[in-house]
Amino acid sequence: MRFETLAIHAGGDPDKETGALSPPIHLATTFEHGPAGERRAGYEYLREGNPTQDRLEQMLASLEGGERALAFASGQGAMIAALQSLPTDSEVLVPDDCYTGLRVLCSEFLPEKKIVARTVDMGDLALVASACSERTGMIWAETPSNPRLKVADIAGLAAIAHERGALLACDNTFATPALQQPLALGADIVMHSTTKYFGGHSDALGGALVFAKNDDLFATVAHRRHITGAILSPFNAWLILRGARSLPARMAWHCRNARDIAAFLSGHEAIETVNYPGLAQHPGHAIAAKQMRDFGGMMSLQVAGGREAALRVAGKLRLIRNATSLGGCETLIEHRASVEGANPVSPPNLLRLSVGLEHVADLIEDLRQALAG
Ligand SMILES: Cc1ncc(COP(=O)(O)O)c(C=O)c1O
Repeated sequence: MRFETLAIHAGGDPDKETGALSPPIHLATTFEHGPAGERRAGYEYLREGNPTQDRLEQMLASLEGGERALAFASGQGAMIAALQSLPTDSEVLVPDDCYTGLRVLCSEFLPEKKIVARTVDMGDLALVASACSERTGMIWAETPSNPRLKVADIAGLAAIAHERGALLACDNTFATPALQQPLALGADIVMHSTTKYFGGHSDALGGALVFAKNDDLFATVAHRRHITGAILSPFNAWLILRGARSLPARMAWHCRNARDIAAFLSGHEAIETVNYPGLAQHPGHAIAAKQMRDFGGMMSLQVAGGREAALRVAGKLRLIRNATSLGGCETLIEHRASVEGANPVSPPNLLRLSVGLEHVADLIEDLRQALAG
């Protein structure tokens, strides 16, 4: 089945009892079992699993081409569950440009388990190979990356990881499986903040891991989620499942709008750089064109004139809202350095733009008036 059809139907069998085509939301925290704990339909307690979550996980596995998936309470919950599957005293290589939350997990939480995170430019395969040691248990990629839209060659990273017996995990939040399928390129785990494009409407926090294989790694992480309790609520599972039905159509529209906006911005005198992998001059364009179906709805712009100029532009926008997060229907902009905590790493003139589904002419008009004089 083709991707667009899978997105509509995966995990979508009619309800067995009623024939309902929209799946029921199972809110039950507990399920009746026999006197010796015999389960009726495989369920016992919500923290371990429930039918609504099963549907979401079937959909996620199917769209990413994996054997199993696990839904989590947030993207961060998914990320730390994967990282904590590494043995004590091991190393993980992480991208030099990545979501702030990963950076904080690496600096504040992984050391508790004596896991060392080393930062590398994932766009340079020779650098990645030389950064590996015999302790490297995982390479963590995020492509395109947040917020500088750096691109990493997933197949190349998989080859480096596997030569050394390490795993490749890939945060696919920006691209989504509608545009890029890391497991088909050799990754072992795909991670998502389903809060973003999967949910698609800025109203449901969630995360996910999709595993290439139904193996010990999957079982270990599933056990960790069960016991540490980073489970998704059934209501959010239902919302994210519903959002996923329109993922391919929304992504096509996000990409189309982003392409026009990147073209407008890249010719504008008030803009120093547009970081968008769809632009031919982007350093990761060739790799992105090879491994992505289209270039996505995320970009960042670096405004000429530094921090103050960037803040002035963000403050003059009328239709485009200043807010964190991404992947919703509405276009959002954010001065990343202002929200990255005590030690911001984003360039001071960088604004991240999550291009939404409005008419692109209205978005360009808003950007034009904000960039004028
Ligand atoms: C690329 C990326 N990965 C992971 C996360 C974390 O996800 P969540 O906010 O759902 O915990 C985010 C959040 O913005 C993100 O942008």
